This record gives sequence, C-alpha cells and structure tokens, in this order.
Amino acid sequence: MKKIHLVVGARPNFMKMAPLYDEFRKHPDEFQVKLIHTGQHYDERMSAFFFSDLGLPEPDVYLGVGSGSHGRQTALIMERYEEILLQDRPDVVIVAGDVNSTAACAIDAVKLQIPVAHLEAGLRSFDRSMPEEINRLITDSIAEWLLTPSSDADANLLHEGIAPEKIHFVGNIMIDSLIRYKERAAMSTIRQEIGIENDEYCLITLHRPRNVDNFEGLNTILNAFKEISKNIKLIFPIHPRTRKQLINLGLEDKVKAIKNLILIEPAGYYDFMKLQMESKFILTDSGGVQEESTWFGIPCLTLRPNTERPITVTEGTNQLVELNTDKIILAVNNILAGNTKKGKIPLLWDGNTASRVIKIFR
Ligand code: UD1
Ligand code: UDP
Repeated sequence: MKKIHLVVGARPNFMKMAPLYDEFRKHPDEFQVKLIHTGQHYDERMSAFFFSDLGLPEPDVYLGVGSGSHGRQTALIMERYEEILLQDRPDVVIVAGDVNSTAACAIDAVKLQIPVAHLEAGLRSFDRSMPEEINRLITDSIAEWLLTPSSDADANLLHEGIAPEKIHFVGNIMIDSLIRYKERAAMSTIRQEIGIENDEYCLITLHRPRNVDNFEGLNTILNAFKEISKNIKLIFPIHPRTRKQLINLGLEDKVKAIKNLILIEPAGYYDFMKLQMESKFILTDSGGVQEESTWFGIPCLTLRPNTERPITVTEGTNQLVELNTDKIILAVNNILAGNTKKGKIPLLWDGNTASRVIKIFR
C-alpha cells in the first residue's frame, strides 16, 4: 500500500486535484490517499464551494495558513506541512499548478526525501516578475515526476536539462473536471439569478497584481470597461484580491457607476462554467480560464503581456491584449464585429488525464 498526499491550497488547485483523487480511490488496495489543504484560500466562495461542486471530501489535513506576504505565507505553509510529513511520511506528494502552496509543499517533501510529482509541470511565461513563474521553476527543478499538459511544456523542461525519463505528457487535468461536470454546469440557474436573458455578455475575471494592485493598471481597465459596456453587458465575478484593491485604490465608486457592468461574488464551479460556455467572449488574466475558454471554443482576451499557456494562443481561441484602454477596446470591437478566432482543442485535453497519471504510479 502506497501513501499519497494530494496538496491543494488555492482555487485553481481544486479542479485539478479532484479527478486525481477520484482515480486513486478506484484502487483502494494499492493507494491510501490523503487530501492536504493548506488554507491559502479560505473564503467559502474560494474554497468550500469547490469541495461541494467537485465532490471532494473534507480535507484530511487543514493547515489554515490564510493570507500574508509571499515570504510569510510560504514559510507558514512549510512550517505546518513539515510537521504533517514527519508524522505521516507519505511515499509520494503530489502538487499542482503554480501557487505558493505548490512550491512550499514541494520543498518540504523533497528535503525529507519524499519524492514529489508536479501536475501541470513545464509551463513557462519566461516572466520572472510573476510569483507563479518562480513557483514553477522551483517545483519543476526538484520534482521527480513532471506531469505535463502540452508539448510546449515538455520542450521547456528538456531545454532546462530535466532528464527525459522524468517527463510524462499526460494532458490537461483541468479539462477532466470540465468534461465531467459540463452537463451539470449547463443546468446552473446563475444567469436567471443575475438577470441575464441571453448570451450577449462578456465574462470577466481579474486578479493579477500587475493589473489590479496599482491605480494606473486598474483605472486603465475600468476606462475600457466603461466604453465596452456601451455595446455589451459585462459580468464580473470579482476575486477577493481585486475587491480589496478597488477599495484601497479609491476605484469602487467608479466601477459601480458603470451601468452595464454586473459585479457578482466569486462564482462556484458550475456557475462559472455556465457563464463561460454561454458567453459571447471572455476577458481575463487567469491561467485556467485561458484553457477552459479554448476547450469551449469561446473567444478569450487575456490582459497580460505573456502567457505560460502559449498553446491557447497558437491552437486555441486566446489572444493576448496589452494593458492599454484603446487596445482593449479595439480587441473587443473586433470580436463584436465577428472577427473571432476559430481554435481547436489541444492534444490530450480529453478528460482522461487522471487515468494516465494513475497508470504511471501503478
Ligand atoms: C493566488 C495565486 C495565483 C492564482 C490565484 C488564483 C500565489 C502567489 N498566487 O493569487 O497564482 O492565480 O491565487 O485565484 O500563490 N483573499 C481573501 N480570501 C481568500 C483568499 C484571498 O480575501 O480566500 C485576499 C486576501 O486579501 C489576500 C489576497 O486575496 O491577501 C491575495 O490572496 P493570495 O492567495 O495571496 O493571492 P491571489 O491573488 O489569490
Ligand atoms: N473559477 C470559478 N469561479 C470564478 C472564477 C474562476 O470557478 O469566479 C474557476 C475557473 O473556471 C477555473 C479556475 O477557477 O477552473 C481558475 O482559477 P483562478 O482564475 O482563480 O486561478 P489561475 O488559473 O489564474 O491560477
């Protein structure tokens, strides 16, 4: 019997770990799985909602670290998870994505000589000003199994000198959850709840520090929203970081004054899927939403200078847009004029990634 820890911490981790959790549980004689939640995200709408939507059980261990500076948050996760590792000593620790919980738990495990598997390995934006890029570089350099979502990720790892036998192209695990729950999500009543009758709306998510942590960035975006909203409704489930920054930067009244913009609380998984699949287009700076919109074939404008998910641009419906009011408006008008990108679904984004991962471990 092998003991496995699956680590989650922030919103984008839950839909990546849920399929793996279910797949491991199909082999109870071979694996004993424990779900470790660091508590990096803790609001009901950033965490508990996903446990119920994705059918995850209560975590076996909750570290309750909460928010803090990078140093403090990372250190607290490391301090608390190390204790758990010393008590429980799993055979393998599996981490996902690029959040602080990912790198912190990987470092803890490797230093106790417990091997780590990294789900969603090899993605690179080549932008070290983003904390996520540092988390990716750290985690990939110490992991034993590098489980990649796309061939560009394999190429990045090989280029960095990672031994080819450690790299496993397993596909995109987020899409396992999407495929599993899309029919259920289609039944969500969120649109009626917020008073949207048809698919003539743009869905927005924003939480990158570059876009929301300074007045100029956020103001540039709001100026664009004001203009765009003359032609289309905007639905904006707002990340807690962004809500706080709107208040801190004195921009709350400005956003509320935009008539056609509907601000809502962060949406649960089904509700957000429903809003994505029926939108006219999406405007985001999220990593995962770039991928999901590509799978749905919905045009996506990503407000970032780069992406660690280039396949969503080369094969999918994604397009990068500069943080500039006129450029944002131009890109939106282009979509509204019908000039949309026709993408295709990348290789192995097929709903079977979790079963490919389990095969490796078996
Ligand atoms: C984190 C990840 C980011 C990921 C995002 C997904 C890092 C470095 N960043 O960013 O890669 O894209 O999650 O959503 O790991 N807050 C709450 N309630 C919560 C969680 C956060 O109010 O449940 C507020 C706090 O004020 C906190 C701020 O949001 O300080 C930022 O949270 P944090 O986890 O540090 O970073 P995110 O911006 O959420
Ligand atoms: N998501 C959600 N509700 C929201 C916003 C996002 O369920 O209000 C989902 C989204 O569908 C995707 C994941 O959260 O599955 C992406 O997480 P996020 O954008 O927070 O993080 P990132 O991917 O940028 O790290």
